[in-house]
Amino acid sequence: MSAGQVIKCKAAVAWEPGKPLVIEDVEVAPPKVHEVRIKIVATGVCHTDWECLYGTGKGMKFRPFPLVLGHEAAGVVESVGPEVTKFSPGDKVIPLFLPQCGECDRCQSPKTNLCKKNWANTQVGVLADGTSRISCKGQQVYQFLGVSSFSQYTVVPDTSLAKIKSDAPLDKVCLLGCGVSTGYGAAIKTAKVEKDSSCAVFGLGAVGLAAVMGCQAAGAKTIIGVDINPNKFAKARVFGTTECINPRDHPNKTIQEVLVEKTCGGVDYALECVGSPVIMTAALESTTDAWGTCVIAGWSETEAMNVVVEKILMGRTLKGTYFGGWKSVQDVPKLVDDYMKNKLKLDEFITHKLKLDQVNEAFDLLKSGESIRTVISLF
Ligand SMILES: NC(=O)c1ccc[n+]([C@@H]2O[C@H](COP(=O)([O-])OP(=O)(O)OC[C@H]3O[C@@H](n4cnc5c(N)ncnc54)[C@H](O)[C@@H]3O)[C@@H](O)[C@H]2O)c1
Ligand SMILES: [Zn+2]
Ligand SMILES: [Zn+2]
Repeated sequence: MSAGQVIKCKAAVAWEPGKPLVIEDVEVAPPKVHEVRIKIVATGVCHTDWECLYGTGKGMKFRPFPLVLGHEAAGVVESVGPEVTKFSPGDKVIPLFLPQCGECDRCQSPKTNLCKKNWANTQVGVLADGTSRISCKGQQVYQFLGVSSFSQYTVVPDTSLAKIKSDAPLDKVCLLGCGVSTGYGAAIKTAKVEKDSSCAVFGLGAVGLAAVMGCQAAGAKTIIGVDINPNKFAKARVFGTTECINPRDHPNKTIQEVLVEKTCGGVDYALECVGSPVIMTAALESTTDAWGTCVIAGWSETEAMNVVVEKILMGRTLKGTYFGGWKSVQDVPKLVDDYMKNKLKLDEFITHKLKLDQVNEAFDLLKSGESIRTVISLF
């Protein structure tokens, strides 16, 4: 029985920004009050993990290092801390970088999923008591977004954990911990894409492909995928694009000009899934001036986007989405059920399967555009 004991296990530690991860022996302390220790079985590798390591000070705010990255995972409860009532050892779970406490004003409102519980601590890599449960060589190692799934074991608050079906395949449903839920929700929950509408999705990585899947589920008539890597187009068709455009094939026009021309005035919905302020502006300007909605899913914490006032004056809406607008604890299990009923694709996102000690390779595959999602098995 490991409950109550410190667990020694392997984790990929980010010792400093800009340097590859190092596989280390780490110690994971037992869960404290309202915390759960989980064995991570599988984790996806999301662009935000890469960005935190290599984009610090550029698009990302500085976070304390050393750090264990990883936030798109699935696992099994190993032990629970005092006062935990909703989880037991052996439960299959998805850790959540966005909690749902059920009690704060945000959780009480149907308008948002942005639960405030532990928010400030989570952003600086610690749990509710101001410390992390992971240490290495006697040093505290911070938890990325409160999760840290590039570790065989981690500890999360009981409000940041979704209990899922006992027969859910963890090496697939881990993707619902971030990328797929984000893109899918960006289309159906945040943009609220309507039947027979026209949509443009910028960036055809996992988030963008999931947005395409959401547009298709909502019954959009036209779904235009935009990416500078044409190798993404074949897969995009599997998810439902009706057409794909490479902006580099139109050197004399901006991509917004191309889209406005093609759709005789602009698309109804544009979804930015790249994380570039220039593309965010392009996405906004690709929508129809009267009622176009642009949703930003791509991540940037420090940069500003350019919005010409006239572009929103006529009636466009500009919105952002965090975790696709899903109320995490209640909605993630429903998304798992949808996958198991074949209402939602997950397998098609997985292009590579690697082991924890190949995590840097997974980053290379993501950055080169070769992978959509690599799923890492931790054991
Ligand atoms: N809002 C959220 O809650 C949330 C959650 C997860 C990820 N994200 C963010 O979503 C974004 C996408 O994540 P991902 O994991 O799918 O990344 P990814 O790297 O797999 O995909 C990005 C895609 O954008 C394409 N691209 C790059 N430059 C482009 C350009 N100029 N024009 C068109 N396409 C271009 C790339 O070729 C690639 O296909 C990232 O910024 C990530 O940080 C946000
Ligand atoms: Zn992510
Ligand atoms: Zn809350």
